Amino acid sequence: MYQSKIAGLGSYVPENVVTNDDLSKLMDTNDAWIQERTGIKERRHIKKGDGNTTAVMGVKAAKIAIERAKISKDDIDLIVFATLSPDLYFPGCGVQVQEMLDINTCPALDVRNQCSGFIYALSVADQFIKTGMYKNVLVIGSENHSGGLDFTNRGRSVSVIFGDGAGAAVLTRSNHIGQGILSTHLHSEGKHAMELSLKGPSTLHWVPEIIAENPQGDDIPYYPYMNGQFVFKNAIERFSEVIHEGLKENGLEVKDINMLIPHQANLRISQFIQKKLKLSDDQVFNNIQKYGNTTAASIPIALTEAWEQGKIKDGDVVVLAAFGSGFTWGSAIIEW
Ligand code: UT7
Repeated sequence: MYQSKIAGLGSYVPENVVTNDDLSKLMDTNDAWIQERTGIKERRHIKKGDGNTTAVMGVKAAKIAIERAKISKDDIDLIVFATLSPDLYFPGCGVQVQEMLDINTCPALDVRNQCSGFIYALSVADQFIKTGMYKNVLVIGSENHSGGLDFTNRGRSVSVIFGDGAGAAVLTRSNHIGQGILSTHLHSEGKHAMELSLKGPSTLHWVPEIIAENPQGDDIPYYPYMNGQFVFKNAIERFSEVIHEGLKENGLEVKDINMLIPHQANLRISQFIQKKLKLSDDQVFNNIQKYGNTTAASIPIALTEAWEQGKIKDGDVVVLAAFGSGFTWGSAIIEW
């Protein structure tokens, strides 16, 4: 039995900064409402012509992670790509990354678990390393939200929250048992699937049918729907539940956490969890203020920044936790 560790991290966000005031020019919203309800001050959006796509941003983050892991791209045995905003309906972004990184026929798979996507992808990578099948796995979370949001009044409760960006991690077989990813914990509850969803275009909601059924364009299923308060309530329950589950599995307690990186859904959710778990400010890392909610990219972007800022050191207990559409949720307990 082997164990995996994170050997390199990288992140990328588009240069184009979109402030709350910028959004208030497009819809009936304002800086005070957005900051009070979400903590977000600004986010990044891909700008037409800047060359970024979900796969391209993922590659930019991946190149940094590969360099920091001190391996060659040809050492990568598997790519796992998490996103809810792929460039194409099919194939997935994983194979685009394989091609863009010019890696010779390595397997690539896509994970579709929205805000929990990175934790699910990390868990998949960890299992492949634990069994000994692969040595180096590239895990990417990347999102192009701005390409698919409703920037009119109708979409304001959703579109002000989300931002674009990518993060990546190289997982490598660890020689030290007890160091690296200690465990991952995954859950889902499909009965709430429609509470945070995007119905189409899909095989049930195909484009010509959508147009035929909605000639006035007033019930458009190809923008995300979110039952915000219901999602919020479930999130705060599931976040703390799955963090406790992970700690218990490893004989750890809340006081042992050196750094919690929660999925950056809403600063109010992170603060609620922090209060519930009685964690100090330096035990929790948030950067949603700068980037908004970048779904599958939010944890690897935050993890990369925390590491770059020297907030994660060897031997630290690092906890990752996420909740989102599905509903799906999960945690990862890491000894750095
Ligand atoms: O990452 C995936 C998981 N997602 C989440 O965890 C998100 C969880 N949910 C949330 O973060 C919050 O529910 C939101 C930030 C989405 C919304 O905050 P809220 O406090 O639940 O607001 P609300 O939807 O109940 O709306 C309150 C009021 C409404 O007006 P009335 O009916 O009280 O007059 C909305 O129409 O705020 C209005 N509103 C806005 N006003 C200004 C909704 N969106 C906006 C806006 N600007 N952008």
